[in-house]
Amino acid sequence: MTNKHLLDIETLDTQRIVQFLDTAEVFFDVSRRKVRKVPTLRGKTVINLFFEASTRTRTSFEIAGKRLSADVVNVSSSGSSVSKGETLLDTVKNLEAMRPDVLVIRHSSSGAPHFVAKHTTASVINAGDGTHEHPTQALLDAFTIRRSKGSIRDLVVTITGDVTHSRVARSNAHLLAKLGARVRVCGPRTMMPPGIERLGVEVFDDFARAAEGADVLMMLRIQRERMGEVLFPTAREYSRQFGLGKRVLAMAKPDAIVMHPGPMNRGVEIDPEVADGPQSVILDQVEAGVAVRMATLYLLAGEAGQSPLS
Ligand code: CP
Repeated sequence: MTNKHLLDIETLDTQRIVQFLDTAEVFFDVSRRKVRKVPTLRGKTVINLFFEASTRTRTSFEIAGKRLSADVVNVSSSGSSVSKGETLLDTVKNLEAMRPDVLVIRHSSSGAPHFVAKHTTASVINAGDGTHEHPTQALLDAFTIRRSKGSIRDLVVTITGDVTHSRVARSNAHLLAKLGARVRVCGPRTMMPPGIERLGVEVFDDFARAAEGADVLMMLRIQRERMGEVLFPTAREYSRQFGLGKRVLAMAKPDAIVMHPGPMNRGVEIDPEVADGPQSVILDQVEAGVAVRMATLYLLAGEAGQSPLS
């Protein structure tokens, strides 16, 4: 079960995480070649099933599949029979009848990919489920940090923003702790889930203190679409306390890197000067996304004993 699907980081062991990251290195080089295509998944079918909006994840899974020579089909809720009321289970059963090898699913309900995995023989990849997890985002973040810093062990990583609603924060907290980083989470108390300390993270509500001596500042998007209530007075007030600008950036180590999973609310959680500045690796994260998703598709759908590039 663990090796057939990628449903979350919480149940992944460290060895498997490192395998994803090391394999992504191979595919990172492929994506920088003149001819960015290998025959690895020829004859395999990948269905991208997106019930929520996405730019980076959906596009990079499509590019990843195509660079591996798989046949890739994109299904989104608005253009499919989901908009006519078809259930998730019926949708999956109908797609299953077309014999895909991999189902990549993004859904607003936490646990939807786990449910799908029980009703298909295909491999299932969680491309973000509700407020639960976004495992390939955490893998691409770790890949980016490792390439920038050489290793993740003992780094101080400060994750700031709407932690309660963030599947990115949850997956990263699990993954970075497993790889030996010291993780701090920071945000308004109203955006901090009770018991978050159990993930082994340190909790802050003062951004300057949380940023002090950090190697990595990872900013989270304010997720207005998941907020049932007003959790902060105004965007301006939030930005003043928890937005990353030059003043707080100066509290981190001089060679600290700045990350954001996207999409960014410029001027709210991050100052454009910092987002586009020399310490930002935000577009490196996007490039890493293709390599990590190629690695994921290969490790889940490749034949036993097959090498990554043939
Ligand atoms: N980081 C991320 O999941 O971006 P998208 O919503 O654009 O896929």
